[in-house]
Amino acid sequence: MEGTEGNNGDANAPENPSNSPSIQQQLSKNAQKKLLKQQRYEAKKAEKKAFIKEQKKKEAERKRKEWEETLASVPEEERSKLIESRRELRRERMEQRSQEKEEKIGRLTRAKEVGQNIVIDLEFAHLMTENEIHSLVQQVMYCYAVNGRCANPGHLWLTGCSGEIETQLQRLPGFDKWIIEKESQSYIEALQDQKENLVYLTADSETVLDELDPKKVYIIGGLVDRNRWKGITMKKAEEQGIETAKLPIGNYLKMSSSQVLTVNQVIEILLKFLETRDWKASFFQVIPQRKRGEVEPEECKEGNSDEQGEKDEPFEKRKKCIEMSI
Ligand SMILES: C[S@@+](CC[C@H](N)C(=O)[O-])C[C@H]1O[C@@H](n2cnc3c(N)ncnc32)[C@H](O)[C@@H]1O
Repeated sequence: MEGTEGNNGDANAPENPSNSPSIQQQLSKNAQKKLLKQQRYEAKKAEKKAFIKEQKKKEAERKRKEWEETLASVPEEERSKLIESRRELRRERMEQRSQEKEEKIGRLTRAKEVGQNIVIDLEFAHLMTENEIHSLVQQVMYCYAVNGRCANPGHLWLTGCSGEIETQLQRLPGFDKWIIEKESQSYIEALQDQKENLVYLTADSETVLDELDPKKVYIIGGLVDRNRWKGITMKKAEEQGIETAKLPIGNYLKMSSSQVLTVNQVIEILLKFLETRDWKASFFQVIPQRKRGEVEPEECKEGNSDEQGEKDEPFEKRKKCIEMSI
């Protein structure tokens, strides 16, 4: 998922302060290397994006020409028929899309009443770089889209939604129409009457989740940190006196790296589990193969977060298919 970091080559995106020469000079050699790697990655990504855009433009132009040639090659009467059938096809497609949209609105509206409560805790902005916040916002967008496609979506909450994260979310097309709970307050205030039902999901918990309880509210730390802030959500939950639990990954998989997953992976797993009631199937469908290692339960949990090396993950491709707004 780290692949979503960076400003996507967006010329309007604010400049990353770490690009400034004075800051680079203050960094250790190791940090400079990392920064350089990150900058090279971002430049490459921007190049790739521009290439894909150009290809799309060419393809659209090719199709347009092909269509014009087809029209020019047939008699007048045939031409009108072709134009009419094309219009009809477009009308049908639009009708289908608007029907799908209606159905999605119906599902999400119902989820507000009966869906499993899942909170994304957005109170960690101060611990993330601008790129990491950008990456988190992309993950949230992805979660919303995946949830909208579920037959029985979860009831999603964004709590602590303020400051830079809110600003970036507001920039997403259609965000103001999202059918989701947006709360500037912390979950602990917004859901104070349900404190005994709050369960913070964290890879550092001793408790292993075995079921999803419809009465419970599952909280996920809105963090992209390459596990730099190891244990931070566990500590927060302990201080607040709320329950914690970790996903039962070790019962089903031997991960090749860490058991710390990204926000979108955790939400996707929860949604898959709600649909299948099968942890193993949910993990296999969501956790990329190269991170799963050999299939053997229990493993060591140490190491970097699963966010590490996410640059080439299918997320980048999949997120392109996301419907950004309802
Ligand atoms: C990228 S992780 C953040 C890691 C962070 N250092 C921490 O202490 O939580 C994003 C969030 O996904 C959830 N998460 C990730 N892996 C998990 C696991 N194996 N079990 C339960 N929750 C997990 C946690 O809520 C976590 O805060």
